[in-house]
Amino acid sequence: MAKRIDDFIIKENRQISKDFFVLELSGNNYLPVLKPGQFVQVKVENSPETFLRRPLSIHDVDYEKNTIKLLVQVAGKGTTKLSELKPGELLNIIYPLGNSFSLPAENSKILLVGGGCGVAPLLFLGKYLKSNGYNPEMLLGFRNTSRIIEYQEYIAIGNVFLTTEDGSMGEKGFVTDHSVLRERRFDHICCCGPSSMMKAVAGYCFEKSIICEVSLENLMACGFGVCLCCVVSTVSGNLCTCIDGPVFNIKDLKW
Ligand SMILES: Cc1cc2nc3c(=O)[nH]c(=O)nc-3n(C[C@H](O)[C@H](O)[C@H](O)COP(=O)(O)OP(=O)(O)OC[C@H]3O[C@@H](n4cnc5c(N)ncnc54)[C@H](O)[C@@H]3O)c2cc1C
Ligand code: FES
Repeated sequence: MAKRIDDFIIKENRQISKDFFVLELSGNNYLPVLKPGQFVQVKVENSPETFLRRPLSIHDVDYEKNTIKLLVQVAGKGTTKLSELKPGELLNIIYPLGNSFSLPAENSKILLVGGGCGVAPLLFLGKYLKSNGYNPEMLLGFRNTSRIIEYQEYIAIGNVFLTTEDGSMGEKGFVTDHSVLRERRFDHICCCGPSSMMKAVAGYCFEKSIICEVSLENLMACGFGVCLCCVVSTVSGNLCTCIDGPVFNIKDLKW
């Protein structure tokens, strides 16, 4: 798919919790067809120390309004600068980058598992699956109640199972501790979050022979296969997370 470099106008910058905000971007040109799991490379203006673009997942797309949303966690200098953007300002992005989650087999029982800012691509994925006739359910993990984000958005798609590490909402523990994984059988699991979480989910899926796709968040510089800084070891050799991923089937990873 052809890549574009476009200026988007910030329509809204909405803080949704202490460290998280959602940027709604309005395109001057019509959006191409975007797929869940794909990401954009964002230019952080007026910030010499963050001259490399920052990769962010496509969180939501509205083709009628010609907008996309990015869910961003403040992690360092680049994301702090992005959190200060005001409506009307411009954001330059390269997109669409990377591959996407695959469409599960018909009638599959699908679970989307996310933690922290790893929930970002799952909203677009959940809506996309629903519009294609699936009934995805979600298992989301957060540190505590105050860190729960976008709950209303996910519940609008389907069942949401929650864990918090302190037990303040949902079941106590990590996503892999949730009882739904013991009591129900899923056919296809899509996962995004911290590497330790994805490896734990992958372990569960290997054990139960469940199809599992994970979206890796390796450090990236270029985002389109030139710098080789995002290489991941797979059964087919070393691959670039930015072009061969970020979504991988766990059976292809050397985990
Ligand atoms: C394909 C992809 C999709 C992503 N989607 C999202 C998203 O939707 N929302 C979101 O908030 N974040 C996402 N990330 C992570 C995001 O790119 C980083 O948090 C961001 O680049 C940090 O930039 P910074 O300048 O604020 O922090 P820096 O000052 O560069 O770093 C601050 C801290 O963040 C860590 N960090 C930097 N880059 C990454 C990275 N790629 N992954 C994990 N930790 C990193 C650094 O190691 C350091 O500890 C994604 C990453 C990838 C590769
Ligand atoms: S980020 Fe440059 S090759 Fe992947």
